[in-house]
Amino acid sequence: MKINAEHYQSLWYDPTEDTVRLIDQTRLPHDFVIATLDSLEAACHAIASMQVRGAPLIGVTAAYGVYLALRADPACLDEAVTRLAATRPTAVNLHWALQRMQKALKRVPPTQRATAALREARAIEREDVAICEAIGEHGAAVLADVWRENGSPSKGLNILTHCNAGALATVDWGTALAVIYKAAARGIPLHVWVDETRPRNQGAALTCWELGQHGIPHTLIVDNAGGHLMQQGLVDACVVGSDRTARNGDVCNKVGTYLKALAAYDNAIPFYVALPLSTIDFNLATGVGQIPIEERAASEVTHVQGMTDAGELHAVRVAPVGVKVNNVSFDVTPARLITGLITEAGVFPATAAALAALAS
Ligand code: MRU
Repeated sequence: MKINAEHYQSLWYDPTEDTVRLIDQTRLPHDFVIATLDSLEAACHAIASMQVRGAPLIGVTAAYGVYLALRADPACLDEAVTRLAATRPTAVNLHWALQRMQKALKRVPPTQRATAALREARAIEREDVAICEAIGEHGAAVLADVWRENGSPSKGLNILTHCNAGALATVDWGTALAVIYKAAARGIPLHVWVDETRPRNQGAALTCWELGQHGIPHTLIVDNAGGHLMQQGLVDACVVGSDRTARNGDVCNKVGTYLKALAAYDNAIPFYVALPLSTIDFNLATGVGQIPIEERAASEVTHVQGMTDAGELHAVRVAPVGVKVNNVSFDVTPARLITGLITEAGVFPATAAALAALAS
């Protein structure tokens, strides 16, 4: 991704220091801070505190967490996996990456485990970049069709997205935003409606920052504005990411995604989900009621965080002291509301048959 015209990944291995570096997303958009991971504890903290977030990036961070753990103690593979697996519940990429690390390492003698773990984590990192770029290419072809069908090239294309499924949610490119970047590179005139995405405001803080860095025209909207904009003919397509997709095509993503899909369906607006195949949980027959939904701290809802004019991060209360809060962080969009799943292997209908064919 471009940051101040320089290329960055959200996370990378630093061979000089033998550490992992990452963009600290808890500081954006106010401060651009590079943090360092040098232990299992630091990797667990980075995921749990959301210094890194977004399903694919959580997976890559966990893979490096295994390396950092084994570097300190080659006998602690199972313990490291257990601790990393407990950091966040919803994104299945976390478990996908940990299983891949376990499989790669289980027959490796303890003395060689750390080296093998680093090799595997670096492979996962590299593959994530290639996968997201491929998602972008497939999705750009979809948006080119939507643009052509709209029949008015001078009008451009208005895309609505929710949360941050951008380069910041992956190693590079992103999933939903990869589609936007690749479509823009094809010369499609785009404008993005960005849902603020309460309570943590990943849309306002991260997606707007990322799109701004890439020069993509965008407008920040409150979470409840999307339906109105759709009714007014101001949205041509929705593109979002996924944290876990069941094998019938149900998609779990940041809370509020479901309501956007309902509004899109009601207004006959295509609703696409961009995701790597590692986000599909083939163990789950359906998503509703089966995907573990993260519940986060009440303070994220009762307070809003921002930067003061003095340059300090500060939270202010917006709800009465003692109010009862439910902070569910994700919801499930039923497959019937989804126009297509954009993956690195191509674009598929959100159906059990299509996903079964993909699995085999
Ligand atoms: O709580 P977050 O910020 O980790 O949630 C992220 C999302 O919901 C993304 O849309 C999803 O992980 C897809 S990222 C390519």
